[in-house]
Amino acid sequence: MRRPIIAGNWKMNNTAAAGVALVNELKPLVADAECDVVVCVPFTDIPAVSEALKGSNIALGAQNVHFAEKGAYTGEISADMLKEYGVKYVIIGHSERRQYFGETNETVNKRMHAALAAGLIPIVCVGESLEERETGKTEQVLSVQIEEGLKGLEDVSSIVIAYEPVWAIGTGKTATAEQANETIGFIRKKCGEVFCPKCAEKVRIQYGGSMNAKNCKELMAMPEIDGGLIGGASLKAQDFSQIVHYNK
Ligand code: 13P
Repeated sequence: MRRPIIAGNWKMNNTAAAGVALVNELKPLVADAECDVVVCVPFTDIPAVSEALKGSNIALGAQNVHFAEKGAYTGEISADMLKEYGVKYVIIGHSERRQYFGETNETVNKRMHAALAAGLIPIVCVGESLEERETGKTEQVLSVQIEEGLKGLEDVSSIVIAYEPVWAIGTGKTATAEQANETIGFIRKKCGEVFCPKCAEKVRIQYGGSMNAKNCKELMAMPEIDGGLIGGASLKAQDFSQIVHYNK
C-alpha cells in the first residue's frame, strides 16, 4: 500500500508572516489527516514556517534546490541550507522552472541527486504541454523525462513523482480522473521498465493541475493516483484541508 501524499505548492505567494498565519490556520484542520501532508513554501518563508510547524503533522518542503554543495551560484540555495531548517521535501523540475528558468532534464537530474544525497525527498515533476498531448506525444515526452530526469536512481521509490500536465496548471482545466489515472499508470509502467518493477509499485505518483476541494475525491479514488500537488487551492487553509480529507 502506498501512503497518499497531499502537498501544497505555494509558488511565489505568501510572505513569511502570511505563511505563518496560513499554517497556523491549517494545523488544527489537518491534525487528524490519514495521509502525508506537506507545504512547499518560498525560501524566505522557511525559517518562520518551520518554527510554526513544530510538533505538527505537516512536513515542510521547498520549491527547488541547487546541485552543488556550495559555491559561486548567485541566487541559488543548497540542500544543506534547507536541511538546517528541517525541510524534508523539495520540488524539482516544476514545469514553471522548465518553462521560465531554463531547467532541463539534465539539471533536474543533478538537483534530484543532490537532494537525495543530503537526505531530502525530491518531488520530481513531469508532464506534457497541450501541443504535445494534442499531437500524441505525451508518452514520448514522459518517457524522456523519466529516462533522463531520473537517470542513475537506485530505487525510484526513494522519490515522489508529480505528474502535472502543463495545460492543467493554473488553468482551471483538470485532466479527467481517467486521463490522469491512465497517464500515471504509464509513468509507473515506464519506471518499472527503466528501474525495477517492485520499486515502481512502491513509488508514490501525485497528480497536479487544478486539483481542488471539488475534484479531489474523484481523482484520489483512482488506483494509480497516490496524492496531489496543489497550487492555487493550497493557499486557502479550508480548501487545502478539504483536499487532505479527500475521502471524507
Ligand atoms: P494549480 O493547482 O494552481 O493548477 O497548480 C498546480 C501546480 O503547478 C502545483 O505544482
